[in-house]
Amino acid sequence: MHKKSFYALDICIKMRYTSSRSMENKLNDDFEEENKMKKLFALMLALAMMLTAAAASAESLKVGLNAEFAPFEYVDDDGKITGFDVELITAIAEKMGMEVEIENMYFDGLLGALTSKMVDCLCTGMTITEERKASVDFADPYFTATQAVVVLKDNDTIHSIDDLKGKKAAVQDGTTGHFMAQDDLGCDVSDTVYKAATDAALDVVNGRADCMIIDDAVAQNLVKKYDTLTILEGMDMPVEEYGIAVNKDSAELLTKINEALAAVKEDGTYDALIAKYFN
Ligand code: ARG
Repeated sequence: MHKKSFYALDICIKMRYTSSRSMENKLNDDFEEENKMKKLFALMLALAMMLTAAAASAESLKVGLNAEFAPFEYVDDDGKITGFDVELITAIAEKMGMEVEIENMYFDGLLGALTSKMVDCLCTGMTITEERKASVDFADPYFTATQAVVVLKDNDTIHSIDDLKGKKAAVQDGTTGHFMAQDDLGCDVSDTVYKAATDAALDVVNGRADCMIIDDAVAQNLVKKYDTLTILEGMDMPVEEYGIAVNKDSAELLTKINEALAAVKEDGTYDALIAKYFN
């Protein structure tokens, strides 16, 4: 063969070889890509199945509360939200086959959070009142309370309900104690309204306020914590009842909560919690 045509043939063969090589490479790449996509798809499918399974096994009940109200709800030393209400609503949810998801917020924002459906219910030492019943529904009462007047042990100005008139009273924002001090007892709350019950108590400890008006079980807890404080006897305040609040369009949830609450009372869980938190 002529030398030139030999070269031409050689080049031709090389070209064909390289082009089939690159074709093969491309096919390989496509195959790997497809494999990767398949694996990713399988993974996504497995994940989706797991998530649906989790959702099916325990639906969550979003509970709004204000963890500034020991022993009903507070943040413990480990930063965990706990207390009588937290354990009660967890037991109630369990009876309903649900898991509790806690949303901790300021007390005066809780009703708004419920009516705007940020949460499903409120379990937060909330007193059942006519005003609140205008915007939400309450489940059956689960606790009885009354307002207590907390003063310094060496207080010598407040001895009766009448003595409260014009006195500086520290209160927690948006609570029945706040409204009672301001509207019924004639106290001065102009610069002693707090988001946390503990801060209100500190005002009395420091002598910034003459007294504090707060639910009795919480008052007892604070008096144990600050030994210069005491609760005034014989104040004869009206009885209040705590209820779990739900939205007005949640009749089914309300029925379920009432059934679960009855069951929790029936099986001894409720009494065990009372013993744990109030003895
Ligand atoms: N029982 C009172 C009320 O309903 C006080 C409740 C305060 N609760 C709380 N978690 N801060 O107004």
